Amino acid sequence: MALSVVILAAGRGTRMRSTVPKVLHKIGGRSLLEHVVDQAISLGAEDIHVVYGHGGDIVPTSLSLLPVKWVYQSQQLGTGHAVDQAICDIPDENNVLVLYGDVPLTSEDTLTKLINTPSGNAIGVLTVNLDEPDGYGRIVRSESGDVVRIVEHRDAGDIEKAITEVNTGILVAPKAMLNLWLKRLTNSNSQGEYYLTDVIELAVGDGVAVRTASPTAPYEVLGVNDKAQLAYLERTYQRIYAQKLMIEGVSLSDPERIDVRGQLSCGLDVFIDVNAVFEGEVALGNNTRIGPNCLILNSSIGANVDVLSNTVIENASIGDNCRVGPFARIRPETSLDGNNHVGNFVEIKKAKIGFGSKINHLSYIGDAIVGQNVNIGAGAITCNYDGANKHLTEIGNDVFVGSDTQLVAPVKVGDGATIGAGSTITKDVVSETLTLSRSKQMTVKGWKRPQKNK
Ligand code: UD1
Ligand code: MG
Repeated sequence: MALSVVILAAGRGTRMRSTVPKVLHKIGGRSLLEHVVDQAISLGAEDIHVVYGHGGDIVPTSLSLLPVKWVYQSQQLGTGHAVDQAICDIPDENNVLVLYGDVPLTSEDTLTKLINTPSGNAIGVLTVNLDEPDGYGRIVRSESGDVVRIVEHRDAGDIEKAITEVNTGILVAPKAMLNLWLKRLTNSNSQGEYYLTDVIELAVGDGVAVRTASPTAPYEVLGVNDKAQLAYLERTYQRIYAQKLMIEGVSLSDPERIDVRGQLSCGLDVFIDVNAVFEGEVALGNNTRIGPNCLILNSSIGANVDVLSNTVIENASIGDNCRVGPFARIRPETSLDGNNHVGNFVEIKKAKIGFGSKINHLSYIGDAIVGQNVNIGAGAITCNYDGANKHLTEIGNDVFVGSDTQLVAPVKVGDGATIGAGSTITKDVVSETLTLSRSKQMTVKGWKRPQKNK
């Protein structure tokens, strides 16, 4: 049977105490809803329907690129009503899987198990046993162990409240039958809502079997209702990601102290020290080491690279055998061709640094093309901005830029040139020459330092 997925995401999320709709809050750098849509995609869903409502169009407009059909539920009249809003668009012969937009970490394994549980015309419900089942719908079984109905906590009597097997909310049912049951729901219950859970009793009445499956791990069915639960699932997500990296052969000095907010792909023998944060798409080559407290965003880093502590790298490409940091800042559109040394308090922006060139201390290189085997001395900077426009600095191969040089762009420095320390370079520098702009040193003989007044 082909699969259609309905994701319920219309609820208010009051306890988040946020102006942002709940399903837009993020785990691992992606919204809760994106995680759930990913699950649906991984199951090969033919169509995905997201029921939204509270917060209006913010959810569909923020996630407009998702491959889903958006279904507006103007009033949140209950989970049964929510599914009913989407069901008319689903082909009659499909199976319908209901997921919650605020339950982000259900695994593909668990959902596959659930979908494969019902054989033929049956319903599958994902249930779990909880020591503290308060608030959840309880799974009521007959003496022979068959599921007969689900009773909501608020509608349950004392005997039912003692049941520890609860409804996770995730279920799967054939569309044609589900559609008929949904139309028969009433809202005569303590909350005046159309409960999706009531379809269970209707199904049993129609002689349809209800089968259950349980998640591989308990966190898979946890929902996000407040910031504490969001933080808990964030940690869980990061722990799972760290495990995956270690299984792939990455060495982590502490798997509890790495954050991946996107995708991190690593070669062999990569080592990552504590408190490294990776955002967006980051790739690390073989034998590369990331020191403590580094932030790396959307960048590709080659093999045998040492990124030393407290370095920030964003939208950049770092070639093989480089050493970057500690305390370096590599900004967007920078590329280091390879074998480069970029040291402490060096900022590089929109610059291409040729093979083997070194910028070891306290420099700003922006809007520049630097050749191979160039040495840029401590404190040298490109003056790329005239207050209105940015200008290019071009430095050839084998250039030596003395310490504390200012290169006032636009300016070119020819191959093999040497610039004396402390120079302000405003005109192009000829190849293979020594250029310096420096006031002559003088000595005043017999000069005495002023004395402090008594
Ligand atoms: C629901 C189940 C309960 C289960 C629990 C698991 C029902 C009646 N109850 O209860 O058995 O143990 O989840 O967490 O189904 N939503 C809509 N539109 C609506 C109402 C809800 O989109 O009109 C969405 C919410 O945004 C949420 C999900 O459906 O993502 C569940 O709704 P919620 O109100 O949290 O249901 P519970 O009372 O927790
Ligand atoms: Mg709930």
